[in-house]
Amino acid sequence: MTIRVPRDDVADAALLADFTTLSAIGATPAGGVERQAATDADGQTRAWLGSWLTERGFAVRQDQVGNLFGLLELAPGRPYVLAGSHLDSQPRGGRFDGAYGVLAAAHAADRLRRHHRRTGRTPRYNVAVVDWFNEEGSRFKPSMMGSAVFTGAMPLDTALATTDVAGVTVATALRAIDGQGTGHVLDAGRDVAAYAEIHIEQGRELDKAGNTLGLVDSTWAANKYEMSVIGSQAHTGATAMADRQDALYGAALVVVALRELADRYGTDLHTSCGQLTVHPNSPVVVAREVHLHLDLRSPSDDLLAEADEVLRTRLAEIEVQADVSIQRRFSHTWKGQHYHPEGVALAAAVADDLGIGHQRVRTRAGHDSTNLKDVVPTVMLFVPSVEGISHAEAEYTTDEDLCTGVDVLTEVLARLADG
Ligand code: GLV
Ligand code: MN
Ligand code: MN
Ligand code: MN
Repeated sequence: MTIRVPRDDVADAALLADFTTLSAIGATPAGGVERQAATDADGQTRAWLGSWLTERGFAVRQDQVGNLFGLLELAPGRPYVLAGSHLDSQPRGGRFDGAYGVLAAAHAADRLRRHHRRTGRTPRYNVAVVDWFNEEGSRFKPSMMGSAVFTGAMPLDTALATTDVAGVTVATALRAIDGQGTGHVLDAGRDVAAYAEIHIEQGRELDKAGNTLGLVDSTWAANKYEMSVIGSQAHTGATAMADRQDALYGAALVVVALRELADRYGTDLHTSCGQLTVHPNSPVVVAREVHLHLDLRSPSDDLLAEADEVLRTRLAEIEVQADVSIQRRFSHTWKGQHYHPEGVALAAAVADDLGIGHQRVRTRAGHDSTNLKDVVPTVMLFVPSVEGISHAEAEYTTDEDLCTGVDVLTEVLARLADG
């Protein structure tokens, strides 16, 4: 198949200028952004995207969980090919994670729109851009919330009732940024023909291999837990050591146990505790309760299950050692799964036609495509992350790679829209 929507310098310059504008919203001093879900900064990026799409003739709609769509009618009455990612960020996060994918989708869809206007051709499917609500899961857990509601993996009511640490619900936070629509925009089963997403790799594989494009063929599995370590509040000076039930001591042992677990399994297990809340968190008080968020990931479902069992045994020992009780519950889990082989093949054909160096990759991070692939044919693409840095202000991808990624995504969208 020939290239239908060729790249040009004007389009590249427009993409980079828009990325600079977007990156200024919620900018942090060292080049990152802070735009957690449904905060004012998230609201500002969504408003900016909405105007950008409206100016170019997209119909902008929000659904009840805050997913924002830009619908482009190219083939009236037909289903849509969706492309997108997320505009929300981690606290002090990078400016590329998610935002690049949404902007890339908007530019790719707009190039397609102009192409069809020029040629007068009608594709088989319509095209839509989407910003999935709360992919990061930092303010409201779990991650990938908007896409999970869209695909039916999470009930809408559960998502809307989820609270942040201040007790604010998703529903209230969305209303505060004018981010909630009144109904369905698209039905995942009926209205979506395919989904495409481009994202920074967030790892080093592409950078090391010198390839510009990663074709995601599978995903690591993940187990995430909420944990409470419960002790009893006491005086740090007056209480004898033997009498203490120090929740923070118990939590510290859990953190160490997690790291030792990863060390035991080598490179096929990643573990961390990224969040810890101490109560009452006062200098002269032995902690009565600590909440932790645990994250275990592996390319192997079996290895993850085994590591989980080892951890369970160790937690029982820690309960005795620190004289605390430990409760944990799954907050989010997904299996190691494959992406659609036809999607990988389509992306490989596009990359070959455009002469772009590519390789297959297995994503370790979760993406909205992790949900979408369960219900519609999905293509997931990566562009390189310099030194693999992500969820940090120093996250970086070169302008050249950003532009090449949009070029590939445009052609992928064109082919998906042609069915
Ligand atoms: C989200 O990006 C995750 O990998 O948990
Ligand atoms: Mn992301
Ligand atoms: Mn992220
Ligand atoms: Mn992610």
